[in-house]
Amino acid sequence: MNRRHFLAAGLASLGAACAPPAVRTAPAPGGVALADVRRFIVERTDPIAGRCRYVADLGTRQVAQPILVARRGEVFDAVIENRLPQPTTIHFHGLTLPEAEDGAGFAPIAPGERKRVRFDVKNRSALYWFHPHAMGFTAEQVQAGLAGLLVVTDPEDDALDAALGISPGNRLALAIADVRVAAGAIRAYAPGADDCLHGWLGNRALANGTLDARYEVAPGWVRLQILNACNSRGLLLAFRDGDALVPFHLLGTDGGLLAAPQALERVFLYGGERVDIAIDPGERSALAAVSLQFDPRHHALGATPRHQHAARERYAPLAGESVCEGAGFAADHLPDGVELPLFTLRMQSNPARGAAALPARLSALADAPAEPPGTTRRLRLDFDERSGFLIDGTPYRPDESGFALQRGAREVWEIKNSPISMPHAMHLHGFAFRVLRRQGTYGAARALAGAPGGRLPTDLGVKDTVVLWPNETVWLAVDFTLPPGAAFRGAQRYMFHCHNLEHEDGMMMRNLTVA
Ligand code: C2O
Ligand code: CU
Ligand code: CU
Repeated sequence: MNRRHFLAAGLASLGAACAPPAVRTAPAPGGVALADVRRFIVERTDPIAGRCRYVADLGTRQVAQPILVARRGEVFDAVIENRLPQPTTIHFHGLTLPEAEDGAGFAPIAPGERKRVRFDVKNRSALYWFHPHAMGFTAEQVQAGLAGLLVVTDPEDDALDAALGISPGNRLALAIADVRVAAGAIRAYAPGADDCLHGWLGNRALANGTLDARYEVAPGWVRLQILNACNSRGLLLAFRDGDALVPFHLLGTDGGLLAAPQALERVFLYGGERVDIAIDPGERSALAAVSLQFDPRHHALGATPRHQHAARERYAPLAGESVCEGAGFAADHLPDGVELPLFTLRMQSNPARGAAALPARLSALADAPAEPPGTTRRLRLDFDERSGFLIDGTPYRPDESGFALQRGAREVWEIKNSPISMPHAMHLHGFAFRVLRRQGTYGAARALAGAPGGRLPTDLGVKDTVVLWPNETVWLAVDFTLPPGAAFRGAQRYMFHCHNLEHEDGMMMRNLTVA
């Protein structure tokens, strides 16, 4: 079995959740080689609940809700076919792509239209993901189930699996998303005004489209690459054995492996962020992955959000429900920061096998990022009584050229969140950054921010999305260098925005032009 097939088999076992889902959800995913995809269909499966799915057409067969697996250097070359009643795009979150392939929403695919997308995967091994990004439709379409995973592998990643002795089936790529379940069914996306301000929050978690997902694992290390694909919920990820928390090791973040593993008991994971972790269940028969209770720091109340877009008026909602109309929160949401079960790992009954020693070094990444000299760009995250959340007090305009940057530039970005605000997971398209330091971090998060510069453990890796709690300032080293082998000519536009999807659609976004 070659490497790609081994990994695909391991990831395909995602579908082997043993408990039947309590409600109808997306079909079980399978690992599909990115290079084998010929056509990518975006379709609606249920107009009542507004559920949608991605289908990868491999020419010989079709796979619904696929997990794409790519070797670094492989090519994606497929026709994207939009069968939704709304415009859509496929944005590859975390990959460095030219504007035409980034799927950022500058050129949405109209209902019934197709678009050919071709690119090389140049980024490090890591968990990346893809989702719609048409302005004004992103939150609704992602909540409808349009989010997929892309696992990129390379020799660093191979070396880690070999050192850990990962058995097939013990490596999982998981997208966690919360949905509203009532009377055994996922409810359609129909946020009220408060949902649009704070973000849409569900009451149950799906793992790869499955409620109460369970995965059978063999003795030894389990490697989990986990994405927070929620519209707005923050997760404080931990593993429970009854009341006890079981320690784990953070191996990597959004953009790949850390320099060295970090031993942890809990880790914050906000919308769009990914963690790569290793956990050894030892003699336990089951482990419950949960989001622990925490103070979610939602300080802003009472604004009228702006979530109406001229573009929306021309298209039907996915589920015949309205968006951001009506006062208050929609019924039966579970507030941010409440404990929420995510999924379960069940150990096969084989006797426990001693897990291999964790390698001391995981990658060639520098422990401490260098602070680029020169330009510091200052950005403010604001709360406006009338407009909701904005960057620098400026509502997003799709036609703006935004910040002008030179390809290859290295800048410090100083981002300050207002005290009257809430957490914002800020995401940059196309380029990665390192976190230099944090200031003003609130108590419960500060207790976890033990790394130099008041950084969180996830701040030690390569990032494309970073959370700022109210009153916090973060300093980032942003690198606009293209990965080796990538050569894009001409000016390319990218986006910087909040990954709370209601904020993103609510214009908490700016463009940047890299030339
Ligand atoms: Cu994951 Cu601009 O998005
Ligand atoms: Cu992105
Ligand atoms: Cu936000």
